[in-house]
Amino acid sequence: MSTELKPHAIGQPLSRVDGRLKVTGAARYPAEFRPPNLACGFLVGSTIAKGAIRSIDVTTAEKAPGVLAVLTHQNVPKLTEPPNAKDSGGIRIEERIPFSDAKINYAGQYIAVIVATTFEEARYAAGLLRVDYEVERFALTKEDAPDTAKQPEESIGEKLQQRKGEIAAALAKPDLVKIEETYSTPTETHNPMECSATIAEWPDAQHLVLYDATQYVKGAQAVVAQAFNLPRENVRIICPFVGGAFGCKGPVWPHTIAAAMAALVVKRPVRIEVTRQLMFSGTGHRPPTFQTIALAASRDGKLQAIRHKSEMLTSPVGAWVEACGIGSTNVLYDAPAIEFSHTVYTVNVSQPSFMRAPGECPGTYAAECAMDELAYALGMDPLQLRLVNDSPNHPLKGVPWSTKHLRECYEVGAERFGWNKRQHAPGSMKDGRLSIGWGMATATYPAKKWDADVHIQLHAGGKTIVKCASHDLGTGAYTAFTQISADAIGVPVEDVVFELGSSDFPYGPVAGGSNSTATVGSAIVAAAQKLHEKLAGLALADKESPLAGAEAKKIALVGARRLGDGSKSVSFDDILHGAGLKSIEAQGGIKEEENKKLGFQSFGAHFCEVNVDPELLSVRVSRFVSVMDCGRVINPKTGGSQILGGVVMGIGMALEEHTVYDRQTGLPATRNLADYHVPVNADIPAIEVHFVGEPDFAFNPMGSRGMGEIGITGAAAAVANAVFHATGKRVRDLPITLDKLL
Ligand code: MOS
Repeated sequence: MSTELKPHAIGQPLSRVDGRLKVTGAARYPAEFRPPNLACGFLVGSTIAKGAIRSIDVTTAEKAPGVLAVLTHQNVPKLTEPPNAKDSGGIRIEERIPFSDAKINYAGQYIAVIVATTFEEARYAAGLLRVDYEVERFALTKEDAPDTAKQPEESIGEKLQQRKGEIAAALAKPDLVKIEETYSTPTETHNPMECSATIAEWPDAQHLVLYDATQYVKGAQAVVAQAFNLPRENVRIICPFVGGAFGCKGPVWPHTIAAAMAALVVKRPVRIEVTRQLMFSGTGHRPPTFQTIALAASRDGKLQAIRHKSEMLTSPVGAWVEACGIGSTNVLYDAPAIEFSHTVYTVNVSQPSFMRAPGECPGTYAAECAMDELAYALGMDPLQLRLVNDSPNHPLKGVPWSTKHLRECYEVGAERFGWNKRQHAPGSMKDGRLSIGWGMATATYPAKKWDADVHIQLHAGGKTIVKCASHDLGTGAYTAFTQISADAIGVPVEDVVFELGSSDFPYGPVAGGSNSTATVGSAIVAAAQKLHEKLAGLALADKESPLAGAEAKKIALVGARRLGDGSKSVSFDDILHGAGLKSIEAQGGIKEEENKKLGFQSFGAHFCEVNVDPELLSVRVSRFVSVMDCGRVINPKTGGSQILGGVVMGIGMALEEHTVYDRQTGLPATRNLADYHVPVNADIPAIEVHFVGEPDFAFNPMGSRGMGEIGITGAAAAVANAVFHATGKRVRDLPITLDKLL
């Protein structure tokens, strides 16, 4: 038998199944759990960027009211983790175990955790520490650290230095139109509404429970089990709700290990919340990038050569590469010669890490601005240049895309936006005294699918409970999984209860790389098939059943809660009744398999209008249209919000976000939401989102590709290109603040 997925619930704009819990405050986020006797930990960060702790005087702090313990490198429990702990299966992007020695690698590195009965007592005592440092000269920029340049071969399975054709010769050919420019993006820092937090509780010396704000419960379980040398099943991670994440909650950061250490010492549960200030050094960021792109095209606009050299920074405590060439110039357009390279410099800043479309996001910003510059060098409409270079194949792998409807994205977007009314010359469109600019850019993100298992428990005449150790970052995953479960199992959507966010459940991957719906959805379909096989087996074994004597191969889901063989059918409930059962369980899943014959990639198009005040030089985004091809849309309401959120973040990247480091201390100087600007409601116009395309059944049985990250790709370029069109000024250094338009 086979389970064919017929969409009933899938495709409906269902409101979030967890919406009521969230708006009534009933949804419990990890920091809101209250194990009895809960103590509070407060983290203290280093005020120097490089050197060593000579001494920490804790005597006054230890005597302060409510203080239970002061942990530093001098007295933390020594961890006995095995030497291969980095390969636990989870993600520990900052490789150093916190408090492991006196060495300081970056400003903000945790040097102590104060544990007290209340948060206020712990924070007060933190001010009583006396720390003496040995200060060394530190590096913050690549100019500070030229000798640290490295060209790593690989990062997260992607080849970082690649070429096709003879790039130097291709760029030197006569009669080509060429541009070569350098684009830079600043450090950008994660600011989800929910800051990271961990509550650690040791029920006994061999068992650890963590309520942890994470995108990866199974990964956190693996990393923490390794670090404390415990069997994996002795560590439980609980995280039913996440208040935004965007990558910062994928790895296990030092505060999580610190919470477990602190709880071990004080023999009480301990909560550590990463303050908004410490989020700027404690949970990753997008490092600054410097990208030099050379493009050459024949007069008709056909690309002949693409060269993309990226440089970026990393920290001394990990090996992150912001892979700008991956997911941008390696997939966007084809050319006879393509080359990209990555050079990484090590400086004394905290560990950079995943941030929404890591690599693809700054990469598409630079690549799509370069395309705009090439369009102007050619005297060609920027949209026309994209249409000329739309390619059916993966440019480097040479295989066809599974499905690609980028042309339709361009056409629908242009139509909705009114692109044909655009005047090409910069500064030529006005609205009263304001200059109007229209810019566009291509969006793209790979479709990923990893391993997952799903457990189903179907109750006769009642609810169906479906479980996977997956996550809902606020994206609507609970709802999408509920819809897929309903159709795959064949039950009404209101009868499905989907549970996630616990390491007790069957394996779910990190909620990253926009993979969750494709991965968990495929596992749901596999588990549903196992359930149907079990039910069919029961029906065939029951002499009273209408399906007694039917051909097993012919039995399939024929309607809500019904199996049939084409002529006769029986309900799930009658099957269970006939077998004397009140419920039935099944488990199934998928394993990642590489498809060498097809490329799986989503594409889209952004169209942006800005207006610029000629006297104040203030830029406002006034219209935005995004059209995406992500295969079948499981839920247009939550899916549309994903794209909208990506565009908002892209507008912030173009015009506002910038983590500034203090040259004196090495600390981020922008460490709160007053200094670190993200878009507020007044910065954001109505954003129109449309979906086009067709289900991508070569990718998975739902036909859907991920949506978490594609919205931000290209979005900043669309804004930057619109600013150029309005002003004639090409700012190649984000964010585009008004001083750069002078
Ligand atoms: Mo995303 S940066 O893979 O959470």
